[in-house]
Amino acid sequence: MFSAQGPSLRELAIQALSSVEHGYDLLAPKFDHTPFRTPDGVLDATAEALRPLGPFGDGLDVCCGTGAGTQVLASACRGRITGVDFSAGMLARARTAHPEAELVRADVRALPFAGAFDLAVTFGALGHLLPSERPALFSGVHRALRPGGVFAFPIGAPPPIGSFWYWALLGFDVTMRIRNAVWRPPFVMYYRTCPLSAVRDDLAAAGFTVTTRPLAALGRREDGSPRYRLVLARKSNAGSG
Ligand SMILES: C[S@@+](CC[C@H](N)C(=O)[O-])C[C@H]1O[C@@H](n2cnc3c(N)ncnc32)[C@H](O)[C@@H]1O
Repeated sequence: MFSAQGPSLRELAIQALSSVEHGYDLLAPKFDHTPFRTPDGVLDATAEALRPLGPFGDGLDVCCGTGAGTQVLASACRGRITGVDFSAGMLARARTAHPEAELVRADVRALPFAGAFDLAVTFGALGHLLPSERPALFSGVHRALRPGGVFAFPIGAPPPIGSFWYWALLGFDVTMRIRNAVWRPPFVMYYRTCPLSAVRDDLAAAGFTVTTRPLAALGRREDGSPRYRLVLARKSNAGSG
């Protein structure tokens, strides 16, 4: 499926019946040949938008997977680059592709860092957390950053109601909810649980000052609004909030 080097439909089905962690362990060898790896265009647009705000010191890629975000941190940071993920399989691939990065195995709902980074990024992972789990993630990132540090990530505009992608994402989420109602362990991955307004509120509650800017390189919707925005959540310089 996806390409000759990508996973087969059977492999994808087996992965989807596993836990998130084990599913990614299984998918890891073929992950870079799936559309689930963040495309270079999104990574490049993010790096471009971060450039005027930097250079940053040490950088953290939250849910790093095979290391897609490492290239963003490499262009934005002058210091140490760290990736964190709970899938040993994904981290093994990241270790091979990015030997310069420090890779930490941990659940991002309980990040094991304090005052260690100037920039944190995350790509393609927020849908793996239930809305009720976001506060723990955002508090952990806030704690991991130094005063004045920035947590940045792209977020897509919701597809127009009634469009192909509207129905496709709705169909995916409904299917996952049915799957998770009847099968254990759950595989949490929902596309429609992290709208910008809710994410912004949760970041503010964790102590961040939140702004966004359009990622113009990724195009506009028919109504002229940007298809993607970069969320920039800044920890105050005083450090406390
Ligand atoms: C879709 S992949 C994205 C990987 C990479 N950031 C990218 O954009 O290509 C999601 C990643 O999040 C990781 N992940 C999901 N939930 C996690 C959690 N609670 N703690 C740590 N990692 C998690 C998975 O193991 C997987 O590597």
